[in-house]
Amino acid sequence: MNVIETEKEIAGKIAADFIKSDMIVGLGTGSTVTYAIKEIGERVKKGLKIKAVSTSKSTSIMAQKLNIPLISIDQVDSIDLTIDGADEIDPNFNGIKGGGGALLVEKIIASISKENIWVINSNKLVNKLGKFPLPIEVVPFAITTVMKRLEKKNFKPKVRKLNDMYFITDNNNYIIDLYLGSIKDPKCLEIELNMIPGIIDNGLFLNIVDTVVVGKNNEYEILENKFKAKFF
Ligand code: A5P
Repeated sequence: MNVIETEKEIAGKIAADFIKSDMIVGLGTGSTVTYAIKEIGERVKKGLKIKAVSTSKSTSIMAQKLNIPLISIDQVDSIDLTIDGADEIDPNFNGIKGGGGALLVEKIIASISKENIWVINSNKLVNKLGKFPLPIEVVPFAITTVMKRLEKKNFKPKVRKLNDMYFITDNNNYIIDLYLGSIKDPKCLEIELNMIPGIIDNGLFLNIVDTVVVGKNNEYEILENKFKAKFF
């Protein structure tokens, strides 16, 4: 296993320690959270009682295989704790998510979670967001008009493809990735993007995370966001 994979595994497994019996747990999407889900599966086998809400079809399939009880978002008012991955995190606990294309559901689940924990390998900690392409989810009908507007703004947009076809999200939308290089003001950008009709949401997750578990070689570090506003 290479260093990145080792760091992902450590972060994922440690995050599972935050789960207590009878919790409603949000299960994120991506390769790092997969390690947390495997660990949760082990604990469920040994008697841990939880109910989980999934953020994607791929995560639901994995949870079902591991016999982790799943419930729909419609069955809950809130979620106790969500464990998810991220693509970049800056010192203000702002992040980019959506490399796997699950940003919309991930943001909805995060917004009703009492606590959000992200699991990452160490090279995802950055000083400024934007080196990782920022994903935005777009209604298929509006893909051309949105592309034109983003090009005009010089946001260097590219429609995401998979095997030469447009990538389709779990919600049957398209993804445009913005190759920005660096994001000066994430809050302003978020507002600007959300004002373009046809864009459903973007991968900026600003001050949403409470705790970050960072894998660092064979160890880990836990970063607490003391400035997170609590809504629950
Ligand atoms: C899924 O759409 C994403 O938000 C992932 O959580 C994020 O891309 C991190 O994925 P990895 O853990 O695979 O790097």
